[in-house]
Amino acid sequence: MERRTIGAAALEVGAVGLGCMPMSWAYTASRQDGESSLRAVHAALDSGVTLLDTADMYGPFTNELLVGRALKERRSEAFVSTKCGLLVGEQHVVANGRPGYVRRACDTSLRRLQTDVIDLYQLHRVDPEVPLEETWGAMAELVSVGKVRSLGLCAVGARANRRGGASGRTGIHSVTLSQLRRAQQVFPVSCVQAELSVWSTEALDALLPWCSARGVGFMAAMPLGNGFLSGTLRPGEGFEPDDVRARHPRFTAEMMAANQPIVVGLRRIGERHGATPAQVALAWVLAQGAGVVPVPGTKREHWARENAGAAELRLTDEDMAEIAALPQALGSWD
Ligand SMILES: NC(=O)c1ccc[n+]([C@@H]2O[C@H](COP(=O)([O-])OP(=O)(O)OC[C@H]3O[C@@H](n4cnc5c(N)ncnc54)[C@H](OP(=O)(O)O)[C@@H]3O)[C@@H](O)[C@H]2O)c1
Repeated sequence: MERRTIGAAALEVGAVGLGCMPMSWAYTASRQDGESSLRAVHAALDSGVTLLDTADMYGPFTNELLVGRALKERRSEAFVSTKCGLLVGEQHVVANGRPGYVRRACDTSLRRLQTDVIDLYQLHRVDPEVPLEETWGAMAELVSVGKVRSLGLCAVGARANRRGGASGRTGIHSVTLSQLRRAQQVFPVSCVQAELSVWSTEALDALLPWCSARGVGFMAAMPLGNGFLSGTLRPGEGFEPDDVRARHPRFTAEMMAANQPIVVGLRRIGERHGATPAQVALAWVLAQGAGVVPVPGTKREHWARENAGAAELRLTDEDMAEIAALPQALGSWD
């Protein structure tokens, strides 16, 4: 698989990564099968994927344990990216950016992951109660003592902070460009993680250009539009109550039906290349810049292989123009 460089620390990863979140969180988390998830991680590694993206709050904690188990004999093949800064509560997740908490969170993540070093340690959300410089400074110390190799921040919207059926906002917001600049003054930002896909392109306006201009890596979260862009979800089939899509405005039967032309377009392009709609969606993300690495999430071996295969797909200018001309997605969180 093609390799890409992640930011300031110039760390190399396979161009397509693996999002481990669906193995323990957000997608019917109550019906997970750990063994099939382990097979998915191994299938990804066998296909040239190196970047595995997890977080302490996925599960909570069980996702890191699973990644640790999967890498027991294969740690050297993987680039482990995890996160701190969010605590799972009854109704909401809350931010914690206190330096003491960050230090403890890192030690417990290292133990769960069964490793001596985290390749990329990301701040999941900025704590509005703690100056970012304090949180980021504590994370930088973790690099200086060798527990972490590089640092990143997540710029994913506030909607991702809702827990279960809880409604309302947590007051935790996506990291801003001015906060990224402040972090850079303290310690180099190696990577920014944010949503980017054919149907969610906001990051192209300012965030990705900011990263590209500074050699900061960009990890594309939700590159398959929470599975919609693969074309395997049928409008009206519904979702389990503990699946985030059960409350996602783009996943009502009406919106899924209205957004079908996007999938039809991806399928048409895929047919020209012998590729699936999911692979076309991922190739589009890969085409957004040399420092962009999508982390499609799956707990299934066959999809992990299929997604890794997207690294071989080169979209033509005609394909890219066709995707640009697809209708805007309907259904918004705002
Ligand atoms: N920093 C943050 O705040 C943040 C927020 C969200 C996500 N992320 C990261 O981004 C990663 C990806 O996001 P995501 O997992 O939410 O969304 P995604 O990658 O857009 O989509 C995941 C969904 O697509 C399905 N899927 C995967 N490959 C498929 C294929 N080839 N064909 C058909 N369906 C396929 C998965 O099904 P199965 O589950 O059945 O395998 C899962 O339901 C996460 O795993 C996480 O690491 C980070």
